[in-house]
Amino acid sequence: MSATLILGLQWGDEGKGKIVDALSKDADIVCRFQGGHNAGHTLKVNNEKKVLHLIPSGILHPKTVCIIGNGVVLSLGSLLKEIANLQEAGIKFTDRFYISKNCSLILDSHVAIDLARDKQEGIGTTGRGIGPAYEDKVARRSIRLEDIFELSTLPSKVEKLVNYHNTVLQEVYKVNPLNAENITKELLQQKDLLEPFVTDVTEFLKESHIQGKRIIFEGAQGSMLDIDHGSYPYVTSSSTTAGGVVAGSGFGAQHISRTIGIIKAYCTRVGSGPFPTELFDDAGEHLAKVGNEFGSTTGRKRRCGWLDLKALEQIVFTNSVTELCITKLDVLTGLKTLDVCVDYSNDNQPIYKSFTGWQQNIESCKAFSELPKTAQDYLSFIEEFLGIPIKIISVGPERESAFLN
Ligand code: GDP
Ligand code: IMO
Ligand code: MG
Repeated sequence: MSATLILGLQWGDEGKGKIVDALSKDADIVCRFQGGHNAGHTLKVNNEKKVLHLIPSGILHPKTVCIIGNGVVLSLGSLLKEIANLQEAGIKFTDRFYISKNCSLILDSHVAIDLARDKQEGIGTTGRGIGPAYEDKVARRSIRLEDIFELSTLPSKVEKLVNYHNTVLQEVYKVNPLNAENITKELLQQKDLLEPFVTDVTEFLKESHIQGKRIIFEGAQGSMLDIDHGSYPYVTSSSTTAGGVVAGSGFGAQHISRTIGIIKAYCTRVGSGPFPTELFDDAGEHLAKVGNEFGSTTGRKRRCGWLDLKALEQIVFTNSVTELCITKLDVLTGLKTLDVCVDYSNDNQPIYKSFTGWQQNIESCKAFSELPKTAQDYLSFIEEFLGIPIKIISVGPERESAFLN
């Protein structure tokens, strides 16, 4: 069985969690392959909201196995807290949750560097230690998950790494160092809780694929935050585009035949960096307020703007998107006109095409034909412009409030 990849195509928070949860009902496995607990994926089921940071969004479906691939950078403290919270809500993890032994770990010293550095550089990171952890991975000095089970070598490995971090913290950022022994102690305390989950994920995915299991890969962040293809340096530190799957899980690209690109019906961005279609007027206020645009991880207000089809044109190519899912269409209700960026002028100003909005509530719509004509026109234009069909339309945060097109 060929696998499905679900990616956010903008600056994150497109509604990946909601869509992955909805599609997981028919999946055997859901796998995260990049990012870390900088992600915040919101699931709303029976009016109850759950925000997942590291656990794949298939976890609410008891028969779905959830996997964390090697490309994820792992804060063990954060992971264990998330597991405990879900267990408290009655969700089982035994025999249905696995983590790659090759994941690079996020230590407290990574978080300290991230926070100190962002004060100077102003990327507006989530402060979770993501960038510094990926730096160490690429520099071949990470502590990996499998290392915490090697009791004879762990203390010296941690000491060496934390000493290095302390030099950076003290010399470059003039902040207090951390204690390596405390960090080792914490890892040793976490070790037993994690042991049942640690596995060779690449092998597991290969075997599962051969057995015909239905696998979903769940992206975190969005394509415009990709380390290579995003608005560098205002990006995250992982490959958020389709290429991240192979690197971050070991699952070959040819085994994926369906790539669902999720776009919000407009655009949001948390943190700093260019945002050509950003709005500072009443329409922007409308999107922020009606869309409840506050970050699921940091609570920061998300910047809002019009949909940028020109930017998406490249992104759907890079990701080999086979179908689109559009979320938060309901948030546009009430706006008189909707603008969509279709090109840029010579001085890089967005060129817009305007559409007439709609005033009627669309939250209970269950088919394209039930949408107001103006909403249909808006969606049809997106499909035509990008040359890819919109197969899923989401009109509310609840699991059920999305329909196939
Ligand atoms: P993710 O990071 O891509 O999973 O997205 P987030 O969970 O960070 O942010 C998306 C927010 O929009 C969450 O609060 C969702 O509950 C909500 N949401 C998702 N789809 C829809 C939709 O179609 N309409 C509305 N109104 N809210 C939605
Ligand atoms: P989900 O998976 C939105 C942004 C941060 C910052 C930049 C770098 O919920 O869509 P980092 O901490 O990763 O080094 O921060 O990336 N960012 C996100 N924005 N949604 C996310 O995840 C994000 N994860 C990181 O705000 O601008
Ligand atoms: Mg999010």
